[in-house]
This record gives sequence, structure tokens and C-alpha cells, in this order.
Amino acid sequence: MSKREELARVLFTEKQIRRRVQQMGADVTRDYAACDLMVVGVLKGAATFTVDLTRAINLPVTIDWVAASTYGRGTTPGTPRLLKDLEEDVSNRDVLVVEDILDSGVTLSWLMNRIRDRSPASVHCCVLLRKTCPLAVSVQPRYVGFDITAHWVAGYGIDYAERYRNLGDLYEVSFPVTTGRDATGREA
Ligand code: IMP
Ligand code: MG
Repeated sequence: MSKREELARVLFTEKQIRRRVQQMGADVTRDYAACDLMVVGVLKGAATFTVDLTRAINLPVTIDWVAASTYGRGTTPGTPRLLKDLEEDVSNRDVLVVEDILDSGVTLSWLMNRIRDRSPASVHCCVLLRKTCPLAVSVQPRYVGFDITAHWVAGYGIDYAERYRNLGDLYEVSFPVTTGRDATGREA
């Protein structure tokens, strides 16, 4: 299927995202001025967002990465798996986990608990997108870029079956009937 059909519509343009990320960077700069800030980006989906956000933070921040997989190549959540651990020591640091999407909260609550076990001074999270999810595990992000409906999205670092991460705009994905998926990407 061609990109034009699969990517139903632009949800946020590159320009809208840039403006919001600048505001979020200013908020983080204000809130963490007296802290030892360590940003932890969650690969791969939050790579683009993490880089843009940290460039908008005017503090001596350190950056580390974890990689987790909850959905594999599909769109239905499983048990999170750690694919890459942190390299830096988080003890006594003020950790801000940066994630692309908060949906059920399974990935973020699992990751933040792992980090909490390593004695940081504080742990908060920052998400670009928060989906409306009735079955959500309780995760309260300190920063949210945009609240969206439960549609599957791709672009701006975020994938659908590993594609479209390179697009600047963020799109809603449309699933043709033949895939047996509803608009959220879940198996119908
Ligand atoms: P949760 O664990 O259900 O909160 O889902 C969050 C994780 O699933 C994030 O790591 C996202 O990368 C991924 N995810 C959730 N929704 C989407 C989507 O619409 N497109 C791509 N990835 C998604
Ligand atoms: Mg992810």
C-alpha cells in the first residue's frame, strides 16, 4: 500500500510540533534549574523528540537511552522487554524519562519502576502524545505535548511496522479492512 493511502491525515505538522517542543523545553528549563537533570530517551520512538527537546533545554543536561519493546512489530501490547539498558549511573540524579506516546501506560510505568529501583533523586516523565485510554495504568506525566484520541499514529520518529519514522509531520494511520484492525490499530 502506498504512503498516501496508509497515512490518513496529518495530525500535527512539523511546525506545530516544533512550537510545542520549544514550550516544553522552556518548562523543563524553568522546573529543573536547580537540579542535576538526566534525560532518558526511550528508543526508538522517542529519539527524534528527545533530541529536539534537549536542544530546547537551556541547562547542562546529560542524555542517556533505553530501548524497550512492548508492541514488537504489531499494534497490540505485550509484556515490555528491555532491549538496551542505561549506561549512566542514575543515583542521586533528577531523571526525566522522555517517551513518544503514553497509551495504556504499561511501558512507562514498567520503565520508571526499573529506574526508581536505582535510587535516583527524582523520576518524572515527559510524553509527546497522551492517548485517551480507558484501561490505562496510572502514570502521571509531568509534561504532555498533545492529548489525542486512540488512533494509531506515525511520523516524527514514531513508526507503523517500523516505517515512517523519518517523516517530519505526525500522521494518523488508517488500517484497510483487510488488515483486520480497527482505527486504533488493535485487532478487531
Ligand atoms: P503503552 O505501553 O500502551 O502506554 O504504549 C506506549 C508504547 O507503545 C510507546 O512506547 C509507543 O512507542 C508505542 N505506541 C503506542 N501507540 C502507538 C502508535 O499509535 N504508534 C506507534 N507506537 C505506538
Ligand atoms: Mg515505544
